[in-house]
Amino acid sequence: MINIGLLGCGTVGSGVVKILEKNKTDIAKKTGSEIRIRQVLEKDPDKCYKIGLQSDQVTSHFENIINDDAIDIVVELIGGIEPACSFIIEAMKKGKHVVTANKDLIAVKGQELFATAEENNVDFYFEASVAGGIPIIYPLKQSLAANQIQEVIGILNGTTNYILSKMTREGRDYEEVLREAQELGYAESDPGADVEGLDAARKIAILSSIAFNSRVTLDDVYVEGITAITLRDIQYAKELGYVVKLLAIAKEVEGKIQARVHPAFIPLSHPLAFVNDVYNAVFVNGDAVGEIMHYGRGAGEMPTASAVAGDIIEIGRNMHYHSNARIGCTCFKEKGILNISE
Ligand code: HSE
Repeated sequence: MINIGLLGCGTVGSGVVKILEKNKTDIAKKTGSEIRIRQVLEKDPDKCYKIGLQSDQVTSHFENIINDDAIDIVVELIGGIEPACSFIIEAMKKGKHVVTANKDLIAVKGQELFATAEENNVDFYFEASVAGGIPIIYPLKQSLAANQIQEVIGILNGTTNYILSKMTREGRDYEEVLREAQELGYAESDPGADVEGLDAARKIAILSSIAFNSRVTLDDVYVEGITAITLRDIQYAKELGYVVKLLAIAKEVEGKIQARVHPAFIPLSHPLAFVNDVYNAVFVNGDAVGEIMHYGRGAGEMPTASAVAGDIIEIGRNMHYHSNARIGCTCFKEKGILNISE
């Protein structure tokens, strides 16, 4: 039996509980062991009861999770820097493996957390922190590891892609479509993080750290959002045979990493031009593999839960087969950062 301590039962947390329950028989076979939600840290217990959790599975005190020796994996889905960061560090120090979807935290404090995981010989996975349900962190660190990566170009924010797609295809107004994206639950609690490009910047910081085995943090990324984009810009782009997308780009320029987020004109023939609505895509160019593109739903309850649950299962397998201390990336400080001034 593998026991989970879940921190946060909001949109993604609920999705994780649901998918682990719905597919539990197959998941147990794949993992080699049954996976059980033992405790959930949530201040609003009704959210937990609504999805079938029992009162003895719900707590409002982190101590009840950290001091429970039966809990093997802590799944952090609170978001933000604190208290999430302290909770993760405490859990690792107690020898618990950790899964998180927390892009804010990985983009700012990733190195500290990787080091803590290594020191404490625990697994640390964060596939859901970038592009929701699309597998991209594991492929970059594993399947594409032999490549020299030339560039990573992503549409990494579902909210802005939704807004730009609706403006392009339906000629609708920015404010109206933003409200709709919020109602659909795609936007961050502060949608400024979406429309000003910060959410995509966090995600490209994480991806470039892995793709280039370097240390790229949020502060290293040039950021420009979509707030200044008008229907007229979109119309001009169309007339010239382009579409406007918020791109997150990381590439190696003269031995340094350049990471940036800004709106860009994309030719209608480029595969990224076909990525619409809440969908995300990551286009990677490697010296051996050539050009590849990962595409799928970048936000929302079940797609993000799919990535979180995948990490839980992978750790479950590591536990079952007795392998130790695997982390999301090594991220050596091999290359400097090429800053872009405005
Ligand atoms: N607000 C984010 C987005 C959610 O719109 O992509 C997923 O990180």
